[in-house]
Amino acid sequence: MREKNLPTGFGWAQGKYSIQPHVDVPEGTYEEEHGRQGFFGRVSHLYHRHPPTGWLRIEGNLKPRSYYASKSEGKEQGQPEILLYNNDVQIGIAKLKSAMTVFARNADGDEVRFIHEGEGQLETDYGDFSYRKGDYLVIPRGTTYRFNASNANTHLVVESPTEIGLPDRGMLGRHAQFDPMVMRTPVLPEGERKTGANAQGEFELRIKREGQWTKVFYPWNPMNAAGWKGDLSPWALNVDDIRPIISPRYHLPPSVHTTFLARNFVICSFLPRPLESEEGAMKVPFYHRNIDFDEVLFYHAGNFFSREGIGAGAITWHPQGIHHGPHPNAAKNAADKTVTEEIAVMVDTYHPLKTTPAAESIEYREYAMSWKLDQGR
Ligand SMILES: [Fe+2]
Repeated sequence: MREKNLPTGFGWAQGKYSIQPHVDVPEGTYEEEHGRQGFFGRVSHLYHRHPPTGWLRIEGNLKPRSYYASKSEGKEQGQPEILLYNNDVQIGIAKLKSAMTVFARNADGDEVRFIHEGEGQLETDYGDFSYRKGDYLVIPRGTTYRFNASNANTHLVVESPTEIGLPDRGMLGRHAQFDPMVMRTPVLPEGERKTGANAQGEFELRIKREGQWTKVFYPWNPMNAAGWKGDLSPWALNVDDIRPIISPRYHLPPSVHTTFLARNFVICSFLPRPLESEEGAMKVPFYHRNIDFDEVLFYHAGNFFSREGIGAGAITWHPQGIHHGPHPNAAKNAADKTVTEEIAVMVDTYHPLKTTPAAESIEYREYAMSWKLDQGR
């Protein structure tokens, strides 16, 4: 900690600050990262005398919001009820109890479905695979599919008009986080599929384009490839197969947990991992005002000590411009912890999101003020 104006060889500095952010934060201060380009651009760290989320009230659009995914009904045939959206991404919840009775094809975008609850078989043009809790299923735009759920399913669905890709592993090497060999691809059934006809003996395919559904009826199962080759395919990855990047000495920015990239948004996975162990290293996320990204978190499983009061199936949305960071109690709660068991999916969007009426109907309205509670004043 330095307490004077000193040249740093990097920028400017005044008052109390830590020369290494996220480590040895000056006593009685709350560190905030104010940066551009996510966690990669020009940046300063501010050491506040009071937590930036200790507001008395908020009037206006930038309220942090929270929703109960469990209360979302989803749409028919396993399609998502959209809660948040912009031109780059749509985020919703899908529910299923049994097999879809029609075939679906999304001509609007790639789908990433995160399986929050349930299991089953996903049938596609390219073959079938089983899926389970904790799976990400990536379904390229234009793929014909049918979910055959074996029990009650809840999916977080992220739809992207641009292709879902993987981040550059950079200096971590090509096997870091997960080796491409752990990506599961579907297996074609032996022989032609005969199942899925309606009472009239027709096979109904529903195609979504610009949000509108077209129904196409076939005399045979529309997923009837006798074979295929190429480098485009649906694929699956379970969060258990992702090995998170950590440092015992430094709280790494959330960008190290990036799992997927598309135009103007990323999907990150926060997974069970040891916490920073060195004395002085921060164990909870630093405050930031997220000036370049809206941040959506879906809480899948575990103990979310950085957001006390939030349980599995909750979705939070923090718009650009207003602070977020650890709940006032989280830093205190983390002090004695050595591991985190949380599993959460984050969608960070470059452009602001909008809500739908469906989201408003499942909102937890006290969320914005939950940040202030328990501060003992
Ligand atoms: Fe954030």
